[in-house]
Amino acid sequence: MVQEFALRIEDWYGRNGRDLPWRHTRDPYLIWISEVILQQTRVAQGMEYYLRFVSRFPTVESLAAAEEVEVLRLWQGLGYYSRARNLLAAARQAVAMGGFPTDYDALRSLRGVGEYTAAAVMSLAFDAPFAVLDGNVYRVLSRFTCTDTPIDTTLGHKTFRALADEMLDRRRPALYNQSLMDFGALLCTPSAPDCTACPLNDLCLGFARRRVGELPCKQRRTKVRHRYFTYLLLRSASGDIMLERRPSGDIWQGLYQFPLVESEAPLSAVELEKRFPDSRLTLLVPEITHQLTHQLIHASLWQLEPRRVASADATCSFSETTCGFWADDAQFSALPQPRLMERICEKIPHMFGRDE
Ligand code: ADE
Repeated sequence: MVQEFALRIEDWYGRNGRDLPWRHTRDPYLIWISEVILQQTRVAQGMEYYLRFVSRFPTVESLAAAEEVEVLRLWQGLGYYSRARNLLAAARQAVAMGGFPTDYDALRSLRGVGEYTAAAVMSLAFDAPFAVLDGNVYRVLSRFTCTDTPIDTTLGHKTFRALADEMLDRRRPALYNQSLMDFGALLCTPSAPDCTACPLNDLCLGFARRRVGELPCKQRRTKVRHRYFTYLLLRSASGDIMLERRPSGDIWQGLYQFPLVESEAPLSAVELEKRFPDSRLTLLVPEITHQLTHQLIHASLWQLEPRRVASADATCSFSETTCGFWADDAQFSALPQPRLMERICEKIPHMFGRDE
C-alpha cells in the first residue's frame, strides 16, 4: 500500500506536474527562497516574486549584503514581513557559517527555517530522505488514510509526521515530495476535489467512507479580530506626504504608512473632526476591508488639510509610538509599505500624479 501510494502519485506527477522555475535547479539557496515565498502565496503569484527576488539576489552572499529596506520592498505584498527579515538574517548566518548549509541540523539552525523548510530543501536540493509536511500533505494523507485526528494539535502533528515519514519514497525523495505537493495543490484540493479522476480512489479510505469533504479535521476555529484603521493624508506646502513607520510588536513592523488613527469601532466624521478641530477633513477612500490570517482590517483614508499652512520641516505625531516625517513622491514610492497601503493608493491615483 505504501509503495503503491508513492508509485501512483509519482506517475500522476509525470503526466500532470507543473513546470516551475525552482524545479530546474538543485541550488539549495534558490530552493530555500522558493519555499519561503510559497509559504506566503500561491504558485501563480509566487513565481513573479521568486523571479524578481533571485534575479536581484542570485546567491546567498548577495542577499547577505543587502539592506533590509530593499528586501522588504521586494517582499511587498506577500505579507508576514518577519519572514523577509528572517530571510536576510538567515542569509547572513549562512555566510558567517561559510556558505549555505548542506545538512539538516545546520539548516534548522538558520533564522526562520522550520521543520518543513529544512525537509523541503534537503529533499529537493540533495535528494535526501526527508518527508515534507505542509497543508497539502496533511490533506492528502488525512484523506487517504481517513485519519481524523485534528491537524492543529500536538497529537495531530505527531500522527501525521509519523505517517508522512512512513509514506515517503526513500529511493526518490525529491520526486516524491514534489509529486505530493502538486497532487495536493491540483487534484486533492481543499474544496471540490475530483475524486473520480484520482489515480488513488480505489485505495483511498476517505473516499470509500465518503469522508473526503470533512478531512482534514481542525480543532479550533480561530476568532477574527476586527480593527478599524483611519488613515490620514497630509501634504506639506511643498507637496510632500506625511508618513510614519509602524512600531514593533504589531503587524507590518517597520513598514511605512500614512499617519493612522486606530479604533475599536468605525470613527465617524464627527469624532474625527473633534480630534482635529483645526483641520478640514475630506473622505478620499471609504471603507475597504483587508483580510489577514486572524484579523480583518477596516480601512479608510481622509485628507487632512490644516487651516493654517504646515511648515515644511514640521513633524507631528498621531500616536504615542510613532513619529511622522515628510516624504516626497519618489521617497514615498521607494519605501516598503503594507499591501493595504497599495490598495488604498490604487483608489486615488490622481492624488499621486500616477494617472496617465
Ligand atoms: N508549495 C510549496 N512548495 C512547493 C513547491 N516546491 N512546488 C510547488 N508548490 C509548492
